[in-house]
Amino acid sequence: MAEALQQLILDTLDAQSSIKDSRALVLPGQKEPATSHEAQITILGALNSLLSREMIKYETREVFTHVLTAEGASIAKEGSHEARVWSALPVKGQGTPVTPQQLKKLVGDETAKVGQGRAFKNGWIGKEGDGFVKTTNTINDTTQLDLQEIESTGTLKTGEKVLADLRKRKLIIQKKGQWFTVSKGPEFSTSTAKPETDLTADMLTSGAWKTAKFKKYNFEAEGIPTNGGALHMLLKVREEIRNIFLEMGFAEMPTQSYVESGFWCFDALFVPQQHPARDLQDTFYISDPPHSLPPEPEYYKRVSTVHEHGAYGSTGYRAPWSHEESSKLLLRTHTTASSAHMLYKLAAKCRGEKIDGEDGDYTGTKTAVDSGDGFKPAKLFSIDRVFRNETMDATHLAEFHQVEGVVADRNVTLSDLIGFMRVFFKKMGIEKVRFKPAYNPYTEPSLEIFAFHPMLDKWVEVGNSGMFRPEMLEPMGFPKDVRVHGWGLSLERPTMIRYGINNIRTLVGHKVPIENVENSPAVRF
Ligand SMILES: *[C@@H]1O[C@H](CO)[C@@H](O)[C@H](O)[C@H]1NC(C)=O
Ligand SMILES: *[C@@H]1O[C@H](CO)[C@@H](O)[C@H](O)[C@H]1NC(C)=O
Ligand SMILES: *[C@@H]1O[C@H](CO)[C@@H](O)[C@H](O)[C@H]1NC(C)=O
Repeated sequence: MAEALQQLILDTLDAQSSIKDSRALVLPGQKEPATSHEAQITILGALNSLLSREMIKYETREVFTHVLTAEGASIAKEGSHEARVWSALPVKGQGTPVTPQQLKKLVGDETAKVGQGRAFKNGWIGKEGDGFVKTTNTINDTTQLDLQEIESTGTLKTGEKVLADLRKRKLIIQKKGQWFTVSKGPEFSTSTAKPETDLTADMLTSGAWKTAKFKKYNFEAEGIPTNGGALHMLLKVREEIRNIFLEMGFAEMPTQSYVESGFWCFDALFVPQQHPARDLQDTFYISDPPHSLPPEPEYYKRVSTVHEHGAYGSTGYRAPWSHEESSKLLLRTHTTASSAHMLYKLAAKCRGEKIDGEDGDYTGTKTAVDSGDGFKPAKLFSIDRVFRNETMDATHLAEFHQVEGVVADRNVTLSDLIGFMRVFFKKMGIEKVRFKPAYNPYTEPSLEIFAFHPMLDKWVEVGNSGMFRPEMLEPMGFPKDVRVHGWGLSLERPTMIRYGINNIRTLVGHKVPIENVENSPAVRF
């Protein structure tokens, strides 16, 4: 059938040079022109096949046709309800009038009910005594005739008004159809033989290649995408931020310890033991094993003292110290816990210690000079995962990535931090930044960083920063003039802004569309 139809189309084109209306075609094996919706679909299939071989060109025209409903089809076959009522009655004066009850038996309840009124209205029947009789000898059942016309042509010559009425009576429904005009294509021929796609050895030996028609190469074809691996958007952004840090002379901190103790996550940072961030609703605690090994005893003593009684010029929190609270194991709530480990190691020489096998140089600047008291300036960064017991929503998950930078040097000030922030965020493509005083338990002063977002046309918070408190640095053994400033931001937020993602669950988790990962371009700040 498909072959025969294609041949028919080609032959018709050959004879007439174009097909002005595909509805005029008489399909193979049919007698009537292909006016139906289904026939046009069949024709479309054949046209597309020929089009792909450039043998023809075609244009699609839209048309609204009508098809009969089940009731419409029954009327087209057996006449309208009113005509059926009319035929069941005797001519006036020539028989016993039919009562309404009898009529129901003769034509059925439904037909009697609907047909009676219409037949009266048309003036076809009248009342005589208790019953009905014909008032005319002949009728024209236009409804039936119209429906028959629609059935065969899809429309009515008499026009839209009648069609609208029939639609209202639910006898027909409108259908969008299409038909086509067809003309010859560049490869037109009346032969439907498929062109060869390969030159074979057989064709060479038999000489068939001389006359064979070959399919043209399609140099526009895009080819099949390779099925290689792809980096997740977060990894691309992480790489980009990591490069910014590296080109600014930072060294990456090891951050592999997801589990920390309350001591390193909070106490060492001078976060009070009663701080709400340490509650169950914010922090995930480990149940097995519940407690960590004790930290180095001297350092532990200095930290607990500065909390409980104050030291280094601080009055401390003057609240009882709980070893239980300090030794609890938890999933780290910030990578500042890792920074604390590194700063503690950085101060080892200041404390007069030596660290096994290493000289305590984590500075990222191999040229940094030890000024005699064991301190070397350092610039450190990390980008890794942290965990918080958050209620999950479109922008929050219970785990996310924190980007953190820490700079330790003598006499650095808040303006160093601000200057540094400007450079760092500029490298991330954020030109306009603003700072707002804030409170963090372990930094003083602290600054929230706001950036102007041109697409959102407003200032958005992009990070948090501050100068680490002396209560944190001095117990570690840093000389008094050593200051450390640090800042942090989430990795997810710039990634979501970068890729225009507004639900974090399409960035992280099992709902991430894999094609997003494959198709997202590398980020450039
Ligand atoms: C029926 O239609 C025909 C043709 O339109 C017309 O000549 C005839 O008078 C009509 N009959 C009645 C009863 O309306
Ligand atoms: C998380 O916090 C809720 C209260 O907000 C608490 O009921 C739940 O136990 C906490 N989950 C864990 C694992 O600590
Ligand atoms: C830090 O400041 C103190 C006090 O102003 C000063 O004595 C010291 O030399 C400064 N250190 C450096 C490295 O500039």
